[in-house]
Amino acid sequence: MKKRIAVLASGSGSNAENIANYFSNHELIEVSLFISNKKDAFIHRRAEKLNIPCYYFPTKQFNETDDVSGLLKKERIDLIVLAGFLLKIPENMLRAFPDAIINIHPALLPKFGGKGMYGDHVHRAVVAAGEEQSGITVHYVNENYDEGKIIFQATCEILPGDTPEDVARKVHALEYKHFPCVIEKVLNA
Ligand code: GAR
Repeated sequence: MKKRIAVLASGSGSNAENIANYFSNHELIEVSLFISNKKDAFIHRRAEKLNIPCYYFPTKQFNETDDVSGLLKKERIDLIVLAGFLLKIPENMLRAFPDAIINIHPALLPKFGGKGMYGDHVHRAVVAAGEEQSGITVHYVNENYDEGKIIFQATCEILPGDTPEDVARKVHALEYKHFPCVIEKVLNA
């Protein structure tokens, strides 16, 4: 039986789509469902196009009930992948899926992580700090934002004059290139 992934995303979901495409004809792994905490997020449109079920859970239900863990258990999910998912994972879900939740962060942790550090906020902070490189970090999820064990990092150069948008483009390119392969390795580990 194939190993089953759930991808959680709060916004555009371009990583979710890239991951789904990567595994679409895979012999051993499939993307079984998406989850979003935003009703109008673009990921719902991507899901329709990809023919992947996309479940919406309002933040309160996500944080304060076992509904999401219940769905993930019922769907026999092996790995939960956070790809631009902005809520903290509640204790009950961490307990229900030990070592089975990973996140991608758009910078080189432990720098530029923590609460409020997501998406363009990260790229603006990186440019403002005069960093000469940025990149991606894939890590296991624990009870603190961006602090779980690091699985993989890749870097890109920041050139003089690069804007946060330039950095975002470079980081997204790294995400598309590496994240699916890292997921594959985690599942085969
Ligand atoms: C990605 O760059 C991801 O690394 C970042 O949000 C973006 C989502 O883009 N995640 C975080 O900032 C988490 N702290 P996408 O919706 O197009 O995949």
